[in-house]
Amino acid sequence: MHISQLTLSHFRSHKFTQVPVGNGPIALFGSNGAGKTNILEGISLLSPGKGLRRANAADLSKSPENIGWKLNAEVVSGTNSNLIETSWKTTSSRTVKINDKLARQNDLAKLVRVVWLLPSMDRLWIEGAEGRRKFLDRLTLSFFPKHADCVLNYEKAMRERNRLLKEKMTDGVWYKALESQMAKNGLLIQLNRKAALKKICASQNSSTTMFPAAALSLSHTDSDMPTDEGEFILSLSESRHLDILAGRTLIGPHRSDMEAIYIPKGIPAKDSSTGEQKAMLISIILANARALKLELGYPPIMLLDEVSAHLDADRRSALYAEINALKVQAWMTGTDKNLFSELGKAAQYFSVSETSGVSGITEKDFSIDSIRS
Ligand SMILES: Nc1ncnc2c1ncn2[C@@H]1O[C@H](COP(=O)(O)OP(=O)(O)OP(=O)(O)O)[C@@H](O)[C@H]1O
Ligand SMILES: [Mg+2]
Repeated sequence: MHISQLTLSHFRSHKFTQVPVGNGPIALFGSNGAGKTNILEGISLLSPGKGLRRANAADLSKSPENIGWKLNAEVVSGTNSNLIETSWKTTSSRTVKINDKLARQNDLAKLVRVVWLLPSMDRLWIEGAEGRRKFLDRLTLSFFPKHADCVLNYEKAMRERNRLLKEKMTDGVWYKALESQMAKNGLLIQLNRKAALKKICASQNSSTTMFPAAALSLSHTDSDMPTDEGEFILSLSESRHLDILAGRTLIGPHRSDMEAIYIPKGIPAKDSSTGEQKAMLISIILANARALKLELGYPPIMLLDEVSAHLDADRRSALYAEINALKVQAWMTGTDKNLFSELGKAAQYFSVSETSGVSGITEKDFSIDSIRS
């Protein structure tokens, strides 16, 4: 899967940026604040959700104009090609169009499979469960596009239930339909997550790379979660009195966590070194791409923000070799073009720069020798 044309209009620091691209790796380089991550964020918004910075739609609108924003892309997967548009205006909510027809945001899940690694994820294994859950759901979504609807339905029902809890409603009648929705979708969420982890672990184990495998599982507390719908409904109704005291739902997949063990040393990811933690994330992302390629015939789009800068030369070469071998459209950023020299001719190089608060992009046709110089 790859983007063949991307346009960002009034999006963050980009007033009108067009990126014509082919499959394979893409190197975006330029100074701090040039607008590189903003391009990755734009791509992340071609799939359901709030994108890689989890920003509000209004914050994405280019200042000082603040007139709203629009992203257009042509996305090619196998022999199919789709035109995707997503936009936001100050007067309305975010809209999505697929081939010029209005669509739901979740319809994008099947058409644009995208996974990402960001510098902030360096702390993924040591910070709270929410980041790991979001990462896991992103991986899961790449395998199971319907996961987006399960999460949406679950969260919608939970928000309603939480409202009742806050109102200290004790009459069970009000809860019944909501808890049944939560149980149905909650179980699907957990099943999808488990299946995604299984695929990633199998893919890691069946391939040797410089990036050591992480043994992934849902956390041990998740094993207490009900495994059938009736049991789940019962648990929710039984926990109502505690939930009323807390003012929110205390059980369910919104509280899940993912655990990882650094296999070469048998040490939990949270106790591993910074470099080992990063290597595990790369291993997971690459395994995800390999597994998806096996299933669909093509890997997802990858967004690797500042990943190259944090790797030593050998690991960087190993990452590029994997990316080239997988024929994955990996959008990579860095401040120095030399970080990408080992990518060779397979990559497209773009210089990103900013003038008077407006970002621009220029394609650079480097011969390998001139990149190295
Ligand atoms: N809504 C907005 N309107 C205009 N400019 C914005 C908006 N939001 C962010 N910016 C600007 O975009 C720039 C950040 O862009 P981005 O994060 O893409 O930089 P970068 O090239 O990735 O830099 P770094 O190398 O530091 O990561 C900042 O200068 C910021 O002020
Ligand atoms: Mg950046």
